[in-house]
Amino acid sequence: MAKLELQNLCKYFGDVKAVDNIDLTVEDGEFLTFLGPSGCGKSTTLFAVAGLDEPTSGRILVDDTIFYDAQEKISVVPERRNCGLVFQSYALWPHMTVRGNLSFPLQIRKIPKSEQQKLIVDALELVEMESYIDRYPHELSGGQQQRIALARTLVYEPKLLLLDEPLSNLDAKLRNRARRWLKKLQQRLGLTTIYVTHDQSEALSLSDRIAVMNNGRFAQLDTPEEIYRNPADVFVADFIGASNFLDGIVVQSSEDEVIVDVKNGNTVTATTRKALAKGDAVRVSLRPEDIQFSEQSGNPVDGQNTLSTTIVGRDYLGSRFQYFLDVGGAEVRIETEDDRPSGDATISFSAANCIAFPDDGVSPDSPK
Ligand SMILES: Nc1ncnc2c1ncn2[C@@H]1O[C@H](COP(=O)(O)OP(=O)(O)OP(=O)(O)O)[C@@H](O)[C@H]1O
Ligand SMILES: [Mg+2]
Repeated sequence: MAKLELQNLCKYFGDVKAVDNIDLTVEDGEFLTFLGPSGCGKSTTLFAVAGLDEPTSGRILVDDTIFYDAQEKISVVPERRNCGLVFQSYALWPHMTVRGNLSFPLQIRKIPKSEQQKLIVDALELVEMESYIDRYPHELSGGQQQRIALARTLVYEPKLLLLDEPLSNLDAKLRNRARRWLKKLQQRLGLTTIYVTHDQSEALSLSDRIAVMNNGRFAQLDTPEEIYRNPADVFVADFIGASNFLDGIVVQSSEDEVIVDVKNGNTVTATTRKALAKGDAVRVSLRPEDIQFSEQSGNPVDGQNTLSTTIVGRDYLGSRFQYFLDVGGAEVRIETEDDRPSGDATISFSAANCIAFPDDGVSPDSPK
């Protein structure tokens, strides 16, 4: 059981600020996920905790033990940090059986041979792989190898579990199963866990809290529900749920709602958490699953927006369709079971489901 604290943590690679002044407390037994695009600093932060990469400045503490303190020049070696680290490429030793793979970390820690057998069997039972103890890695499926990689870290009873995209080598179905199983195991063991992924559905389904990362910083640190429903900015709204954006100018504003002119005579009523004034440039985010085709058109009624659009593209997704719509020159993507031909269409969506953010001129995809 352990509580992890990062204080003012920074890591530079030359001019690149891979980790930019991060403060974080991961509570005892919490499952926290770093979620963000490639290169945003997820692995660098995780490796700093494990001791595989020395930060540039800051402090790392586990309970009352200092793992790293730049000012005091303290840096505990990885073996003494007792972190269980599992990578994307789980790299079991191919020339050793499952037993050999699990006994290796115990030998490094000088655990007597007489105690090893029980620890190995216990760890394999946790991942439901005890009957595979004498197999070689090439005799196991990808998902089974993944479990052995996890058992190899659980065998020495780590204080912290650090998982860097551990399921990304599995196919979609197996990944789903492994996800549920991993969550149950983590809860049963009460292990403080940091999980790294760029898969938003994985983050939403597994985590107690998610830190959405962008350019080495936390864009938002919150529960999955809050991050999904109340994204802090355009970057988070875009990264979680692949939102559509309508750009416009505020024509009327109240405390938590604005009316936005989104060009070509269309207006949209949107919620807002930031103070916005008449004349402000804004970006209104709107999720594909929150939009429906509608038979009526005209001005917003009862918190419901309606917009005239033209269907310019359609993809069959199996259980539903994905449409690409032209809304006054902007492209809007929607997902619905509704089967429609190309041509003009009216869409509707509730004001509660669209959020207006100040337009800071930064596209979600461009580096800041
Ligand atoms: N050893 C290194 N030398 C120089 N730059 C590095 C090094 N390791 C990482 N970086 C840079 O630091 C930044 C953060 O890298 P990091 O590996 O933490 O990203 P990530 O969020 O884990 O991305 P991914 O999802 O692709 O694994 C990137 O810009 C990367 O190019
Ligand atoms: Mg990485």
